[in-house]
Amino acid sequence: MPQSTAITVRTASAAYDVLVGRGLVRQVAVQVHLRGVRPAAAAVVCDSAVEPAARVVAQEFEAQGARACVLPVRASEAGKSLEALGDLCDRMLAAGIDRAGTVVAVGGGVVGDLAGFAAATYMRGIPCVQVPTTLLAMVDAAVGGKTAVNVVRADGSLAKNALGSFAQPRLVACDPDLLATLPARELRSGLAECVKHAVIADPAQLGWITERADPILAHDPDTLGELVVRNVRIKASIVGADEREDGVRAVLNLGHTFGHAIEALAHGQLTHGEAVAVGTVAACRLGASVAGCAGAVEDAVRTTLARVGLPVRLPVALPLGALMDAMASDKKRRAGEARLVVPHALGDVRVHAGVPPERVREAWAAVGAA
Ligand SMILES: NC(=O)c1ccc[n+]([C@@H]2O[C@H](COP(=O)([O-])OP(=O)(O)OC[C@H]3O[C@@H](n4cnc5c(N)ncnc54)[C@H](O)[C@@H]3O)[C@@H](O)[C@H]2O)c1
Ligand SMILES: [Zn+2]
Repeated sequence: MPQSTAITVRTASAAYDVLVGRGLVRQVAVQVHLRGVRPAAAAVVCDSAVEPAARVVAQEFEAQGARACVLPVRASEAGKSLEALGDLCDRMLAAGIDRAGTVVAVGGGVVGDLAGFAAATYMRGIPCVQVPTTLLAMVDAAVGGKTAVNVVRADGSLAKNALGSFAQPRLVACDPDLLATLPARELRSGLAECVKHAVIADPAQLGWITERADPILAHDPDTLGELVVRNVRIKASIVGADEREDGVRAVLNLGHTFGHAIEALAHGQLTHGEAVAVGTVAACRLGASVAGCAGAVEDAVRTTLARVGLPVRLPVALPLGALMDAMASDKKRRAGEARLVVPHALGDVRVHAGVPPERVREAWAAVGAA
């Protein structure tokens, strides 16, 4: 059996392992069995981009005596929909999946969220195993039990993750060999979350990533495996302390309030990671002005982001007023007070309420909004 590293996630509702290791894709069924889950049938829900890997997973379940079916879905934000959920449910019913079945999600965050929510609700809930295939899903989406689909509002806009549940998986299996085919831009998207994690809880990781930028960008599986282990540890400790985002889990939104505003206005020209990269720089500038955060923190973040090819300024012209409005409407929809995650120092980020708008404007200006 290949060597793998296990990180145990302990939340209020469950404890489970995140395994990280090369070749794990051929061990998923065995590892599930070792944890006492013996499904009669496995519904392997996959991103069509990684269908061969899903077939390997399905064959291994069959070798363990389970029935298995592969159910490909179209992975896109638009495809993370109620229609896709209904369609998936229909296909699971047609395949004879019942309460003795288990869902295995093989794909990025879209498939993980959709299949995870299907598992959480199908026949009032059946077990789910996550086999993430993007860096973002390995270090972020597959860990922590958030599952959801998007809903289209009456005005046609997308309410992201409007319908979902907290449902922890039984196992997460991260095989860095699966990242070999991931497009460079998607790899960088995951790196933005790693930089975010570094600022929140692992200052040494900025230099670690900068030094290893070449092997990381070359998809070197051993380096990526180490990167995943580091970042799963961070995410696991935060969600372990606050499963349902009542408190500390909110720090994971560092750079995201800025980033969501960018995404809302850039209309698909930037990936989530690119928006978060710029948002994290803006958050550092805000930290300098409202929390005395050293300018060296923003410099270090910029250096690492630039080294891996992520933007540190808005690469498209976006008006400052529209960004402020997008931020305000995002907050209004969340029906909360204006709360922003602000770095005080590397490894020390805190949630601030009532940040003066002038300081937020200055932070936007620092990343090129005019
Ligand atoms: N549940 C959570 O806590 C959480 C956290 C962060 C993000 N998310 C969600 O995750 C989603 C984004 O996830 P993502 O960035 O993984 O995007 P994604 O699932 O859309 O995958 C990105 C692209 O990569 C392709 N792909 C996936 N794996 C591949 C591989 N190994 N080789 C080649 N191509 C591959 C996909 O087909 C897709 O085109 C969003 O919907 C977001 O809301 C959830
Ligand atoms: Zn994110």
